[in-house]
Amino acid sequence: MKQKYYITTPIYYPSGNWHLGHCYTTVICDAIARFRRMDGYDVFFLTGTDEHGVKIEKRAAENNTTPQAFVDKLVGDIKRLWEKLNISYDKFIRTTDDYHVKAVQKIFKRLYDQGDIYKAEYEGMYCTPCESFWTESQLVDGKCPDCGRPVEKAKEESYFFRLSKYQDRLIELYKNNPSFISPKSRMNEMINNFIKPGLQDLCVSRTSFKWGIPVTFDDKHVIYVWIDALTNYITALGYGGDDDSLFKKYWPADLHMVGKEIVRFHTIIWPALLMALGLELPKEVYGHGWLLIGGDKMSKSKGNVVDPFILSDRYGVDAVRYFLLREVPFGSDGVYTNEALITRTNADLANDLGNLVSRTTAMITQYFGGKVPAPTKAEEIDGELISMSVAALGKVRENVENLLIPESLSEIFRLIQRANKYIDETMPWALAKDPDKRERLATVLYNMAEVIRVSAVLISPFMPDTAQKIYDHLCLGKLPSDFESVKTFGGLPVGGGVVKGEALFPRRDVKKELAELEKLAESAVKKEEKKDGEYITIDDFSKVKLAAAKVLACEKVEGSDKLLKMTLDAGGETRVVVSGIARHYSPEYMVGKTVVIVKNLKPAKLKGITSEGMILCASDGKDVVFVSPEKEVAPGSEVS
Ligand code: ME8
Ligand code: MG
Repeated sequence: MKQKYYITTPIYYPSGNWHLGHCYTTVICDAIARFRRMDGYDVFFLTGTDEHGVKIEKRAAENNTTPQAFVDKLVGDIKRLWEKLNISYDKFIRTTDDYHVKAVQKIFKRLYDQGDIYKAEYEGMYCTPCESFWTESQLVDGKCPDCGRPVEKAKEESYFFRLSKYQDRLIELYKNNPSFISPKSRMNEMINNFIKPGLQDLCVSRTSFKWGIPVTFDDKHVIYVWIDALTNYITALGYGGDDDSLFKKYWPADLHMVGKEIVRFHTIIWPALLMALGLELPKEVYGHGWLLIGGDKMSKSKGNVVDPFILSDRYGVDAVRYFLLREVPFGSDGVYTNEALITRTNADLANDLGNLVSRTTAMITQYFGGKVPAPTKAEEIDGELISMSVAALGKVRENVENLLIPESLSEIFRLIQRANKYIDETMPWALAKDPDKRERLATVLYNMAEVIRVSAVLISPFMPDTAQKIYDHLCLGKLPSDFESVKTFGGLPVGGGVVKGEALFPRRDVKKELAELEKLAESAVKKEEKKDGEYITIDDFSKVKLAAAKVLACEKVEGSDKLLKMTLDAGGETRVVVSGIARHYSPEYMVGKTVVIVKNLKPAKLKGITSEGMILCASDGKDVVFVSPEKEVAPGSEVS
């Protein structure tokens, strides 16, 4: 039977402005999940969204919408982001999911019934954006220690979780289980900053807003963030629901991967809650560092934004994934700059990996007609490359298991670099000149192609698209779903084809790219500003002259399957308008219809015909329908 492996990301706040920093936790978890799957584990990879709270309630109101509609839209956006980045999650939980809501209510009631939750009055310093209460002593310069923004005094009747009761058991846990919190430094942080000063009971309900899970036995209260959020890791598996078979199979979590700012919640509150529920504790909580821009945590609220969609479209999803996985020393903070991304992509992906693939496929094409030649007798130098290739999986595995993610990639790239050096040492172009060295040439090129294949399989958890592309260059079809074929050397079939294809990663001119990116960032900021100023004034609107017009004649535009040419009676004048609705309406149907046109649109030439205005249409993305006055009106009637 396969060994199970349960890995989670935090559930994300639906903030909307997803930046590269947000992708960090998720891309790392994805690489680990993919690696473990290929390595024979039965993996369950969970991610999701954390959708309740006063912040959402306020923002929804500002946008004239309901909190539910507001989060629905944002959840759609983050799912598209994960799709873009090839995130292979097994389940996406939303804290607004019905089963989660019911299970949380059950958990809350049970904790109340058994005395772990009680009601009292609470007073503290509250940071609204972070939804966190702080004690005076936790504030930094009187401000929120997490985000640096001002806090306000707040007081309300609340339910409390008896966190203080678990103090000793938590210390015990850390002592007996040193790998519970990683990296090690974070454990000391927890003990010194939070446990030693003494744990205070935790406020777990609110009466000041409504957008949360109601307390079933006291409907003034909604359950406040941490019990709602942390329990996602078990409710997603069916705990507290009708079918808990996944829970039985996968719990406890093998790894909760979180950013360092929420380690505290995952290593203090979460195990205490689980203790109260009598459940097993997660095996490990890993607190990774932040991706910084200009020395600050990269987050929208501070104005540093890098759009993962823009970067992925421009450099490829795998350049972005590779950067996140490789550049930041894992556990520490790392600085993001556009320059670092481009330099990294050029050096490792275009030069080392891309070159190896293109040189090898080019030489096999040139010297062996594009068919993988058969290797013969190995020389000493081959042996070194081969043994490195065979040993690679074990080394990468060891790093992944120890959560040394950049190191696992450098291990693979060591092999790639070795193969590049092997080319320089063996000089196949020189061998090719000597007919007596034909066998040697075949052996060298076979070895190179096989190392490329092995590298592709090894990088596939980290860069799935690139790995598949390499497999395509080697005409090998679909990537394998396990590591079997890299445990020995020689899996590449002799006589198989190779194609030169496009370069995996084109080399970029750093200076030129930086200038381009700056332009892109500027236009992104402008778009944002436009979003903020979404209203136009009545004066703006009155600039558009709209009028009813009757279709007198209509025909297809020659050479286009989209365009219709219409002659319109616009009230005392005829006009010719070209409209892209030929796929939706026939010319016969249009004749006699009344449409609405923009009269003062600057004329434009379409397929050689001057279009004097445009007709208004509505579209849901699939269908296109023209807009027509509700009753017959005289052609030329003003529309306003
Ligand atoms: O904290 N660099 O959600 P979240 C690296 N809902 N990681 C970053 C980052 C950056 N610049 N910015 C964000 C929450 N992240 C809660 C969690 S769990 C029961 C509830 C990471 O949307 C951050 O560290 O603020 C965290 O791991 C994840 O994005 C989600 O953060
Ligand atoms: Mg956060």
